[in-house]
Amino acid sequence: MRRFSSDLRRSGKTIAFVPTMGFLHQGHLSLMEKGKSLAARLVVSIFVNPTQFGPNEDLAAYPKDEARDLDMTQKAGVDAVFIPDVQQIYPSGCQTVVLLKFLPGHLCGLSRPGHFNGVATVVTKLLGIVRPHTALFGEKDFQQLAVIRQMVKDLEIGIDIVAAPIVREADGLAMSSRNMYLTSDQRKSATSLYRALTASRQMVKNGETSAEVIIRSAAARISAVPETIIDYIAICDPQTLEDVAVVSGPVLMAMAIMVGKPRLIDNMMLTP
Ligand code: PAF
Repeated sequence: MRRFSSDLRRSGKTIAFVPTMGFLHQGHLSLMEKGKSLAARLVVSIFVNPTQFGPNEDLAAYPKDEARDLDMTQKAGVDAVFIPDVQQIYPSGCQTVVLLKFLPGHLCGLSRPGHFNGVATVVTKLLGIVRPHTALFGEKDFQQLAVIRQMVKDLEIGIDIVAAPIVREADGLAMSSRNMYLTSDQRKSATSLYRALTASRQMVKNGETSAEVIIRSAAARISAVPETIIDYIAICDPQTLEDVAVVSGPVLMAMAIMVGKPRLIDNMMLTP
């Protein structure tokens, strides 16, 4: 991978990079499409990063289908797919981690302690290996995107971070590799996230400014469908991710909901 990247750089070619954990879907493909338009060559990595999973999370069960992924990347015109193994990324004796002070203290970071440090560490390593000019991330993982932007700035990594909007199924469910865990009943319940977000967006458009009122209404909507357990619903500042009480400008509404076993996340900007 390093040789491939150095050769490209030496010949003056730019590299766009889409890091993934595999089990690719339309959301990843939209990142690849954007990546292709931004650089001469496109690299995708597939690595299910163990350090971003908590002890009770789905690392062992994380869906995998390398043959399908390779077929999809080939059709998407990807120039190289980097599939390291755990030993290559975390050889014995490796001891450096990337730790952010504040951004992980909100939203998903509260119920997934250590998750964003795992993400920041692996993304730093992948950027160091692939050495792209641009790296692309989806807005569904809004907090991840914020963490990576901050880390790239703080550590002077000197690459462009480009975001792409959430890609949704026809009924609004945000695309995710984890959607494949849903039973058909849970799949129906899972649309409540998008419905709650769009209803909240409408409330704000209609003049509601109390975050508490909007969150309570979204929670009622989600709790009314079977098999949902709310991890969190938050309305926050899109830069700092700190809670906002009064909606007076654009805010981020973000949520994590267990639908049966799978934990689904979604978010939307609300603009008065
Ligand atoms: O979003 C993901 O798939 C992962 O968190 C990432 C960025 C590839 C790091 O493991």
